[in-house]
Amino acid sequence: MVKITPRTGNGVSSCEETDALYWIKRLRALNEEIYSHCIRVAILAEKMGKELNLSEEQLRNLTRGCFLHDIGKVMVPGELLNKVRRLNEREREALDLHPVLGEFIVSAMDGINTEVIQTVRSHHEQWDGNGYPDRLEGEQIPLFSRICSIVSVFDNMLSERKMHKRKAMELAKSKLRRASGILFDAELVSLFLSLPDEMLDIYSP
Ligand SMILES: [Fe+2]
Repeated sequence: MVKITPRTGNGVSSCEETDALYWIKRLRALNEEIYSHCIRVAILAEKMGKELNLSEEQLRNLTRGCFLHDIGKVMVPGELLNKVRRLNEREREALDLHPVLGEFIVSAMDGINTEVIQTVRSHHEQWDGNGYPDRLEGEQIPLFSRICSIVSVFDNMLSERKMHKRKAMELAKSKLRRASGILFDAELVSLFLSLPDEMLDIYSP
């Protein structure tokens, strides 16, 4: 689970956690939906991380990065965050600044790990190099960002569903499959798709 309570004695400063908590509360106040998305993404990413046999410290950095991945949206005008209409080009550009704004926020947290910062900055990069903000390609994209982008897109598809969970799950998986090796790291997509449905069971029926 995501750990946001103050911790000591394991290399994680309580300052860092307090900072993270402050910003997460701001995000929740701004947009409950994005806040919930961040929690689910962190939960799913942790499941991926365990399958990859990450160390405890790596798991902490992965879940923390995923929990904070959209934190930059607190600095984006609120009206751009609700999806009632299509954004124009300038609005889209403003919204697309959120990974860099997020990096700015997270970098200022006391004692934050580089892997967390990278996860936030690079979670919209794409395997084919057409993502943003740096147009990184393939394994240039940090591993945790590659994980974050898969579970984030999966969660968006599941949480926006207007159909039964089982059907939505299959549709989301098939979209991931089609984007494998284009938007996403094919090996990680394959790993994600191999997780039993019960492990993805964080969505209401
Ligand atoms: Fe994002």
